[in-house]
Amino acid sequence: MPRRVVIDRRMTELLRDDESGIARAAGLLREGALVAFGTETVYGLGADATNAAAVAGIFAAKGRPRFNPLICHYDSAEAAFRDVIADDRALVLAAALWPGPLTLVLPRRPDCPIALLTGAGLDTQAVRVPAHASALALLRAVGRPVAAPSANLSGQVSPTTAQHVLRGLGGRIAAVLDSGPCSVGVESTVLDLSGPDAVLLRPGGATVEAIEALIGPVLLGSTPGAALRSPGMLASHYAPSLPVRLNAETVTEDEALLAFGPALPGAGAVFQLSETSDLTEAAARLFEGLRVLDGAGMRGIAAMPVPYVGLGLAINDRLERAAAPREV
Ligand code: TXA
Ligand code: MG
Repeated sequence: MPRRVVIDRRMTELLRDDESGIARAAGLLREGALVAFGTETVYGLGADATNAAAVAGIFAAKGRPRFNPLICHYDSAEAAFRDVIADDRALVLAAALWPGPLTLVLPRRPDCPIALLTGAGLDTQAVRVPAHASALALLRAVGRPVAAPSANLSGQVSPTTAQHVLRGLGGRIAAVLDSGPCSVGVESTVLDLSGPDAVLLRPGGATVEAIEALIGPVLLGSTPGAALRSPGMLASHYAPSLPVRLNAETVTEDEALLAFGPALPGAGAVFQLSETSDLTEAAARLFEGLRVLDGAGMRGIAAMPVPYVGLGLAINDRLERAAAPREV
């Protein structure tokens, strides 16, 4: 008889959203641990956005097969706009609709401390200030941007209670800050302000009408051209300008080597993803590695094989896109 599999959820702390629970959650986040927390939209799975290894842990815990760009959460617009460049539209929207269920996609500042993995290597970063007292208290206590996708396993629906979170991620994350059910229950509206047109990438808690009343017409994601900006599609994803060769077993002196495990000898430049073949470490260093090698003055990038297990799926997804023939 097959035995019923009992998932051990005891390893995940269930914290109350009082002063000591929030302090504990903030301490865990600052140490690089994963903590789910309630917002007005859905529960988010939080990590210190400036810590690439912690952010890699989000993808591992969710079982996401690709590195989707994540939203950074802040306790104020001022804090958000220290990391990304706000134009007049962003300032007007933030003044009227933050805190609230609106996410703005804006260019990273040159000195932006957010890990490249958080934004999936893009030059833009999604930011928002949630309208939720304990989420804001948590963000204030952490004092750093907190990256948080919805706190569900990949492919499952977004959670709106702490119990939903535990059902999917119990035993896989350090803690859940229980702030009761979410009031909005759908995700935030995602608005791309990185180009001249405001483009709606995802409808959500903030209405298009409210946004248009403040900044004028918004292009819908289905508009031709706008679709190109959806994450995972062409233009928006960072791809190195050099050709990328996958599964390299040898390397030449005019090539830059993206190493995983002991590096192949003979490359003109080397970036080590993980000497010990640790997939979480490799995920955390991937986007930095592609950028560094792209600028190393070589003829091409040779990538050593990465196994197709765990975070290796998302790493290979990104490398395969980088190696694919370029769209024009
Ligand atoms: O309400 C919400 O937004 C919740 C709570 C936790 O804040 N978070 C959430 O995150 O729904 P997630 O990861 O499930 O969805 C984020 C969305 C995705 O569609 C992602 O592709 C898009 O935002 N996104 C994030 N960064 C982006 C960027 N730089 N450019 C374009 N789209 C981006
Ligand atoms: Mg989600």
